[in-house]
Amino acid sequence: MAFNRDSEYAVEIKHLWYTYQPMGFTALKDINLTIRHGEFLALIGQNGSGKTTLIKHMIGLHKATKGEVILGGVPSTSRVVSDLAHDIGYVFQNPAHQIFSETVEDEVAFGPKNLGFSREETEAAVTKALEDVGLSEFRKESPIVLGRGQLQRLAIASILSMNPQLLIIDEPTTGLDWRECIRVLELVKKLNESGHTIIMTTHNMNLVSLYAKRAVVLRLGEKILDGPVDEVFAESEKLKSAYIKAPQVYRLLSLFPEIRPEDYSIQGVADAICAKRKEGA
Ligand SMILES: Nc1ncnc2c1ncn2[C@@H]1O[C@H](COP(=O)(O)OP(=O)(O)OP(=O)(O)O)[C@@H](O)[C@H]1O
Ligand SMILES: [Mg+2]
Repeated sequence: MAFNRDSEYAVEIKHLWYTYQPMGFTALKDINLTIRHGEFLALIGQNGSGKTTLIKHMIGLHKATKGEVILGGVPSTSRVVSDLAHDIGYVFQNPAHQIFSETVEDEVAFGPKNLGFSREETEAAVTKALEDVGLSEFRKESPIVLGRGQLQRLAIASILSMNPQLLIIDEPTTGLDWRECIRVLELVKKLNESGHTIIMTTHNMNLVSLYAKRAVVLRLGEKILDGPVDEVFAESEKLKSAYIKAPQVYRLLSLFPEIRPEDYSIQGVADAICAKRKEGA
């Protein structure tokens, strides 16, 4: 059964529990989560909180110990992993582990070929994906010549060439400098604007505040926050309990409880400071 782009949700997770065997470690505890088509969601939480484990349920690599995972309206149990690749693209936590072809174009062509695209379709998909990520000039090169940011973009291109509806990117900016981070995130933003649903994990809260629209916070396998980024970053106590530090501007905003998260802006802070000054005068 196909991933239905007209289904109410791209991802629907109901009371998901997952226990790693044979050691019996429970990494996810009663997760409930719905993600609509077209969202840009950041999944955050400290190391070991369960982000990758949760993502692996969305690509069919893990089967729920208890609960249900529904992808594009179809229960994940009724689909095989290779079939999911048509609709759901997964960019690994470390792209170097994902790249194995001798040339950039072969790397990007691998997915479409595997999915049975014709030669012409594969050629068109490779050209478009390389253009989208800004790597056309490296088409005939070996991936070895690429820098870390370029490798990350190549990993994204090799998934994009399969034209997935949902793109899941695990830690896209590890080891990148700020300029490269922005380049990768600008690319992801463009993909979201052109209709791809994005789920991204990251430890970089500044990037979350700049790019994601919704944030979900995991702590020790439990979902403790879920909402618009501004509202999640306003929850300083819960964030602290998950060892997450909101970007500094949110910590400043927390000094002004009269500003509601939906009104967060630099202007809002400026107005609140002026009002406080007047009160004190
Ligand atoms: N194959 C495995 N066998 C047993 N336990 C595992 C396995 N993989 C992960 N875990 C455990 O499950 C928990 C969640 O791990 P997971 O990799 O999902 O965390 P994460 O949030 O992605 O962390 P990071 O930010 O470091 O990528 C951790 O305690 C981890 O040690
Ligand atoms: Mg991880």
